[in-house]
Amino acid sequence: MRRRIKSCCFPSCRPPAGRWGIPALLAALLLLSACGGEKDGSLRIGAALYTQDDTFISAMAQDLEGLVREAESETGEKVTLFIADGKSSQSTQMDQVDRFLSRGCDVLFVNLVDRTAAAVIADKAEAEGVPLVFFNRQPVEEDIQRWDQIYYVGADARESGELQGALVLDAWRADREALDRNGDGILQYVMLEGEPGHQDSLLRTEYSIKAVADGGVEVEKLANETANWNRAQAAARTAQWLEEFGDGIEVIFSNNDDMALGAIDALTDTPRDRWPLIVGVDATAPALEAVAAGQLYGTVHNDGRGQAQAMMDLALALWSGEDPAQAVELEDGHYVWLPYRAVTLENLDEFLNE
Ligand code: BGC
Ligand code: CA
Repeated sequence: MRRRIKSCCFPSCRPPAGRWGIPALLAALLLLSACGGEKDGSLRIGAALYTQDDTFISAMAQDLEGLVREAESETGEKVTLFIADGKSSQSTQMDQVDRFLSRGCDVLFVNLVDRTAAAVIADKAEAEGVPLVFFNRQPVEEDIQRWDQIYYVGADARESGELQGALVLDAWRADREALDRNGDGILQYVMLEGEPGHQDSLLRTEYSIKAVADGGVEVEKLANETANWNRAQAAARTAQWLEEFGDGIEVIFSNNDDMALGAIDALTDTPRDRWPLIVGVDATAPALEAVAAGQLYGTVHNDGRGQAQAMMDLALALWSGEDPAQAVELEDGHYVWLPYRAVTLENLDEFLNE
């Protein structure tokens, strides 16, 4: 069994100003060599992605790679990031996690394929004494509580739903006639859902509609279906709905931007005078372009870069023996939450320049 990082004769260092707390990190390395050379001065991180074939997740992987290079140049230490593509198979991901552990990774980042597999991975990491950071796909609370070195970095799914609903509510209030195309005072909508069982699918679906209804607008669901976060699947579903409901669709809610872009693809393929209002979540680069082009009414910025930054901050703190609560804003000792922000044409510039 490998040593637990915190079991070293390591004082808990407080990072001074500066993102990586460099002096603390260097001091930590010196101290570690005084601890009998337990560290070789190189941080090895294993990152297991549910699939690299996901726009939001592959952007996060790129952010992580960039942050690793930044950390290396700022600390002068070697940081290696191993990225494994789970290709949507939990058993493939299990093998990848086993391999990371047997290769001596110091910290694991895990984007679960199946959220219910968290406990098995948590137990493997604990047995090896390797801190574990889940991200984007949130395990249940009791799995996070299995060990004190398990963390979750993400964003509050409910908040994204509420913000998305608020966008639609604002549009209704600003120009009700434009939105209520059949003039019946009711908002007819379809819902493109992400993967079944994903916290973001469940809560965005629920809270977006709740926000509209709580705002006093009567809603009528024409249809809802999963398109598994996927643009092509969303285009196919939307094409069917357009055939079935035609101009009866007043709003298309989409649990993420890729599926909203799929809806736009379907609308572009069957030219019509007026489009339904479309809203997404993520604020990916192509979605921001669609906002600029007036095709996507709005989206909700899902701060993947902020999440990647928090993961790196945690990894460096855990590796160097710092108190992670000094490196990131920890809630209940285990959670780091990044805020969502609504995006429309009005504040688009803030996001294009990020
Ligand atoms: C994002 C989706 C992404 C999913 C993957 C969500 O938070 O909004 O775009 O496909 O995570 O787990
Ligand atoms: Ca209506």
